[in-house]
Amino acid sequence: FAFTSANHAWAEAQITKYPAGRQASAIIPLLWRAQEQEGWLTRPAIEHVAEMLDMAYIRALEVATFYFMFQLQPVGSVAHIQICGTTSCMICGAEDLMAVCKDKIAANPHELSADGKFSWEEVECLGACANAPMAQIGKDYYEDLTEESLGKLLDDLAAGKVPTPGSQTGRFASEPASGQT
Ligand code: FES
Repeated sequence: FAFTSANHAWAEAQITKYPAGRQASAIIPLLWRAQEQEGWLTRPAIEHVAEMLDMAYIRALEVATFYFMFQLQPVGSVAHIQICGTTSCMICGAEDLMAVCKDKIAANPHELSADGKFSWEEVECLGACANAPMAQIGKDYYEDLTEESLGKLLDDLAAGKVPTPGSQTGRFASEPASGQT
C-alpha cells in the first residue's frame, strides 16, 4: 500500500498539525483517508499509516478495530449499508431492515453480495434516534426507514441512482428531506 501523491501530501500536512512527538494523534484522519482511497482498510494500509506516524502496527490496529467507521474487510463496491441496531431503532424495526439486507444483499453481515456491489452490517447508535429506524450509507443518513423504503433505496443504488438522504417519510431529520430548509 502507498498513498497517492495527493493523499500523501495531505497526510503529511495532517501530521504537521500536532506537536513534535505527538504525530500519532493524526491516526484517525490518516486511517480514514487510506480507507477512502482503497474502499476498506487492508493490513498493508494500516501498516503504512503506523509507519508514517512512527507507531507500532498493533496500536494502529487497536484504533482501526475500535470504530465502526473503519472497515477491516472488503465492502460492496457500490454501497456498504450500516443498519443501526440500538434501542430506538431496534424497537422501531431494525430487525426488519436487517431482514431486507439478508434477503437482498447477503445472509451474513460483512458478506459481499453475489455481484460484489453491496455489503451490510449492524452498528451501534448513530445518534439519529428520533428518526429511527435508520441506516448510514457512505457518509449519509437515511432515516424513518421501512422495509419498503430500504428495499427501494437498494434498488435505486443498484440502478446507479443517488437516493436522497434524510428522512424517507419527509419528517424533519438530521439531513433535510427535499423541500425542507
Ligand atoms: Fe438508532 Fe440511536 S438508536 S440512531
